[in-house]
Amino acid sequence: MSGSANLNIMIKAARKAARGLVKDFREVENLQVSSKGAGDFVSRADIAAENTLREMLLGERPNYGWLGEETDEVEGKDPTRRWIVDPLDGTTNYLHGLPHWAISIALEHKGEIVAAVVYDAAKDEMFFAEKGGGAFLNSSRLRVSDRHRLIESIFATGIPFGGRPELPAVIQDLGRLVPATAGVRRFGAAALDLAYVAAGRFDGYWERGIHSWDVAAGMLLVREAGGLVEPIGEADDVFGSRTIIAANSAIFDGFAKVIRNT
Ligand code: IPD
Repeated sequence: MSGSANLNIMIKAARKAARGLVKDFREVENLQVSSKGAGDFVSRADIAAENTLREMLLGERPNYGWLGEETDEVEGKDPTRRWIVDPLDGTTNYLHGLPHWAISIALEHKGEIVAAVVYDAAKDEMFFAEKGGGAFLNSSRLRVSDRHRLIESIFATGIPFGGRPELPAVIQDLGRLVPATAGVRRFGAAALDLAYVAAGRFDGYWERGIHSWDVAAGMLLVREAGGLVEPIGEADDVFGSRTIIAANSAIFDGFAKVIRNT
């Protein structure tokens, strides 16, 4: 699949930032970093990756805005377009030497995500999509799963940690959902949870308390792979409500009913 110039820039930027992250990850894996200093080491790797991405993406498109997890937001000269970037989604996995983390880059135009890259560098899996052009993993087209029954489906979520206020609501979600399904997974990287829904590896995903940079790219992957994405509160939007439900269209309503408790 040959993508637009913007998509090619995004893929190139992701590969470049990944080189630094992979190198630092090897040190974490091989315990070259003392556990005491690991948090600082990883946060330096995270910031360095964001700087690489920012230099490349804003270097190529200086008029676009910028919203990244680690650096200040920039309003672009072109107020209709902005990059939404998480340089290291799955930071806790990375810190613990778990090879499940990704770089997430989305391009938003007039409030809609139009291009997306989620790169799992440890497994060299490049997920990408453009609005209207389908979703891909490396060179293969992606399609959400075609499971029709909740009881056969598996779901991913993020369980709020470190005293986050959404925990009681998520425990209630789990209490309603787990008995009705084939199970729930907590892999620790929201961008990959969505990429896996797009790839049909998970049948659905939901989370409360997400940030736009965690999910912006993954949302387009799911939609372009034929799935549905909505906020949990029906009237609101995903970024504003900081909640998300995504699934294949056959199970979406049943799944959303359980999560919304309606
Ligand atoms: C986190 C991961 C995690 C999700 C959290 C996110 P980070 O992102 O995506 O799976 O449950 O909500 O904040 O902090 O690793 O970029």
